[in-house]
Amino acid sequence: MFVPALFISILLRAFSAQAKVVTSFDECKGFFYKDTEPGGMAQNAKKICQMLEFDSYSYATLYSVHHRIPLYSAYVFDPDCSSTAGRAENWHVEPQISQPESQTDHMIYERDSDENMIKRYQAVSSDYTNSGYDRGLLNPNSFPCEESHNATFTLTNVAPMDAGFDRHNWKNWESTLWSFLQRKLDTDGGSAVVYIVSGTVPGDHVQIPLRGTSEDPERVTVPSHFWTAVCYKHHLNDTKSFSFGYVGENQLGGGIRLMTVSELDDQLRELLKTPQAVRIFVDDCFDDSKKLKEIQGVFDQLINLPANQGDQSGTDEQSMSRVLKKATRSREYVTNSYLTVGGSRCKQDHLCGRHGSGYNWCNTVDGKWDKCCDRNGIFTDCYLTVSREYCDLQHPCGYYGYSYLWCRTKAAPYWDYCCKNCE
Ligand SMILES: *[C@@H]1O[C@H](CO)[C@@H](O)[C@H](O)[C@H]1NC(C)=O
Ligand SMILES: *[C@@H]1O[C@H](CO)[C@@H](O)[C@H](O)[C@H]1NC(C)=O
Repeated sequence: MFVPALFISILLRAFSAQAKVVTSFDECKGFFYKDTEPGGMAQNAKKICQMLEFDSYSYATLYSVHHRIPLYSAYVFDPDCSSTAGRAENWHVEPQISQPESQTDHMIYERDSDENMIKRYQAVSSDYTNSGYDRGLLNPNSFPCEESHNATFTLTNVAPMDAGFDRHNWKNWESTLWSFLQRKLDTDGGSAVVYIVSGTVPGDHVQIPLRGTSEDPERVTVPSHFWTAVCYKHHLNDTKSFSFGYVGENQLGGGIRLMTVSELDDQLRELLKTPQAVRIFVDDCFDDSKKLKEIQGVFDQLINLPANQGDQSGTDEQSMSRVLKKATRSREYVTNSYLTVGGSRCKQDHLCGRHGSGYNWCNTVDGKWDKCCDRNGIFTDCYLTVSREYCDLQHPCGYYGYSYLWCRTKAAPYWDYCCKNCE
């Protein structure tokens, strides 16, 4: 029955975020630099491949059931997305954390109906209500594209963030990071992939709801620090690759400081009090203190741009939106959930999904089937083809008069399919 099926899929889009709690990150390792998750972080925490609609993953999260906050979320920066949509009303939770036996399928959870069951192992919306803390997003909602955008509004991607720190300090750095990466990618013709990991340091002292404010107090650990690590990997020229990180204390004016990734590793090891060394990126991703000076210079410049000057409440969002608008490009963005690697589009009643197999595929409009373009950050690149060949720098992915996306490559047959329009 065509109509009811479509109707149901629309309902699911509107009301559910899906995630898969996994034993290893294999299924969504594409979000990690060199397919390798950070080392030295709490190994017994829950691994979550965060999913958007139609079964494709949009980022990865390591979630501490003990603290009921994420230790980090890892994602790939997409320069073409500039969603400034407001905050979603429906915050999602992940039933699989609370019901491990439901491992077999992607759970769909609607609102807080099973709150008590859910509450045992994770934070729920009411933990944050009137707590004085914002729901601080690790994978920031302003970065990912439309569909991924909704997937960031899951309580497994947030930790209590001091409202002042969130709105004045962290947001300012986030939007600066956004502009910085945008410029850098522009300069390099989009020929790089940017891996980002954002995380928390669970604090020792404060948990919300505060004692005396709730019947069920002190459930969710307030982080003492928030941190972000960035690995910019140029496809063709390693001297253009670099990395850096920053960390700040979770309080208004919490002094965010830029540093090399290895410095951040050391600092996190100290703060997290772990016996093992922390290694966010497997080989520190072109860690270089000389390059850091350059980056620091650009950050200093950007952070003082008029767009970032707003200091009164409310202006942060406006300045953010100004920065985003300025940088928005005119390109068409192709929703990969409907597009296959062979350049076909999926039938409306059979969109990309596993459909019982190990990869994403769909029935196509030309009566065949094909594998779907993946959104693991890899195929969203202007210079990377579906076979992971590089496009010629003068010929990024685009239609060029054909009905499918493609680009010129160096090796025979000198072209390949793409999943993104960058003409
Ligand atoms: C995202 O969520 C909002 C509100 O919950 C909903 O209206 C919108 O349709 C969703 N967008 C997508 C692409 O699923
Ligand atoms: C790589 O980048 C460096 C620094 O931007 C530049 O000097 C060098 O010429 C580049 N090498 C190649 C092979 O393009």
